[in-house]
Amino acid sequence: MCGIIGYTGNGNAVPKMTEGLSVLEYRGYDSVGIAAQTDGGISVVKCKGRIQTLKEKEELAALSSTCAIGHTRWATHGGPSDINAHPHRAGSVVLVHNGIIENYKELKEQMQQKGVYFLSETDTEVAAAVLNDCYLESGDPVAAIRKAMLQLKGSYAFGVLFDDHKGEIYAVRQGSPLILAKGQDGSYLASDITALLPFTREYYPLEEGEIAHLTKSFAKLCSVGGEEITPAWTTTSMSPEAAQKGGYPHFMLKEIHEQSEAIVKSVSSRINAEGLPDFSADGIDADFWKQVKNIQIVACGSAMHAGIVGSRFLEEYAKIPTNVYIASEYRYHPPLAVDGTLVIIISQSGETADSLAALRYAKSAGLPTLGIVNAVETTIAREADRRIYTYAGPEIAVATTKGYCTQVSVLYMLSVAIAYATGRMDAVTAKEIAHSIKEDAPRAVAHMLETYKDTFVRIAKKLAPKEDMFYIGRGTAYALSLEAALKIKEISYIHTEAYAAGELKHGTISLVEEGTPVIAISTEAELYDKTESNVREVASRGADVTLICRDDTGEKEFSANEVILLPTNSEAATVFAALVTIQILAYETARIKGCDIDRPRNLAKSVTVE
Ligand code: M6R
Repeated sequence: MCGIIGYTGNGNAVPKMTEGLSVLEYRGYDSVGIAAQTDGGISVVKCKGRIQTLKEKEELAALSSTCAIGHTRWATHGGPSDINAHPHRAGSVVLVHNGIIENYKELKEQMQQKGVYFLSETDTEVAAAVLNDCYLESGDPVAAIRKAMLQLKGSYAFGVLFDDHKGEIYAVRQGSPLILAKGQDGSYLASDITALLPFTREYYPLEEGEIAHLTKSFAKLCSVGGEEITPAWTTTSMSPEAAQKGGYPHFMLKEIHEQSEAIVKSVSSRINAEGLPDFSADGIDADFWKQVKNIQIVACGSAMHAGIVGSRFLEEYAKIPTNVYIASEYRYHPPLAVDGTLVIIISQSGETADSLAALRYAKSAGLPTLGIVNAVETTIAREADRRIYTYAGPEIAVATTKGYCTQVSVLYMLSVAIAYATGRMDAVTAKEIAHSIKEDAPRAVAHMLETYKDTFVRIAKKLAPKEDMFYIGRGTAYALSLEAALKIKEISYIHTEAYAAGELKHGTISLVEEGTPVIAISTEAELYDKTESNVREVASRGADVTLICRDDTGEKEFSANEVILLPTNSEAATVFAALVTIQILAYETARIKGCDIDRPRNLAKSVTVE
């Protein structure tokens, strides 16, 4: 949520800012800006809109600098506008900010009493004023930042320039992610590593409360208490191509196609030499699972939906009672924990504020925690007692696909690992399922993308002009429907409800009329007949039904207008074939509607505010 970049060195900072901001745009894209140190002082160029609008500005073309900071915004305080765009200036301070200053109203009043006049509606300008106020007292940037931190409440990551500190960038993080990086031509700052892949791969993620002072040749670090810290640099294995479209028109399509490979990566290291599911490479041995009597899965959005699919496997195979909670609600109505409760936090980004808050709540309640995270070295991954990475690689499209897919594959493998470790599943079955996740699921994904290309487009053409639609399913198919509806809503803006197929007739079926699209999913053979009855119920009321069902359903007479058949060589094949089908249907619908697929309105990739 919002992107930050900074550079100081021997090179030209301005093109680095625009290149990095283009990559970061997925984190927020309603306004954008750059502050650059020049011979005449710090120049700020900013505007409402996207990086392309900024690039077209004459002031930017005229800018030359070796030290700059940049920002792409997802509006929280004050709507998208030129004035509310970052960077913000107060006195000698120019800063960019990710996060939220919770006590900004009270601080704003205090600053106004001191005669400060505010131009924007943002909490960021208030933070700049507080920092400037502290800087006026000491004239020392680090001391000023430390003092300001005592006054600012909330979550923040700042990149800061001071008028009289040429060639220097200051930075601090508290609750919002920020990394430092060093390249051959200077020092860098960013809210995530993908923005820096064209320049350098050696980075250091700032810890909570750490303050950084960047000059072109080094990065100095200190804790909020003032002790000096030596950064432990690491090298990312991501290639610059990972953050590029690679010939696809959209990141979302690229990421949908990357899923076969992603599934393999997510589970390969969790199958041991004997072919058995085994998470000891993640530092979790079989004995750990034996103590788990009850699981609470906590997450947001698609990650929460992956948790719902996973809970079915955990209960079916591992026989562990599992409940799934919306992270933003978890703290307010804490579920009862019994001895042996394990809290699993699922997060692609590893930075989602609500999931992080839930993790911290669970830890404070003394519960053991496990993070299932994609982005390595992120806050949730670091703070959870144990972590399992999903290894999906960088996910740029706001709508998650391979992130969600690998969360499901890892949870699936985990449930079989627990089942085997606790003696609830025999070795032959465990091996068979593990093998099917690694081999059948990727093949099924590729098969669907190849075989149904035209069908997906044909169905999407019918969906595109509609305003409302339904997904229905039973069992695992219902869990998949929840994600299917979210995908359609977020990128094609069609109001879609996911309903347990049997529940529709208890009220909501009254919304079904002539031509209402209903997509029914059926992945479990034993639930097919009942789902088919529900299909008949809506079809007879005029619904335009698409049925996504198993290819072993037999010579049944389908009451649906369109039928997509899922491979049934294993449960994994069926589930992952359905999973990719719902994603590509959403993609094609949004494409036909001409929506901004990778950057849907009002959204941002990583939601780092509560
Ligand atoms: O990064 P996280 O997995 O914690 O994000 C959670 C949700 O914000 C995320 O899954 C969101 O629902 C997706 N963008 C939807 O596609």
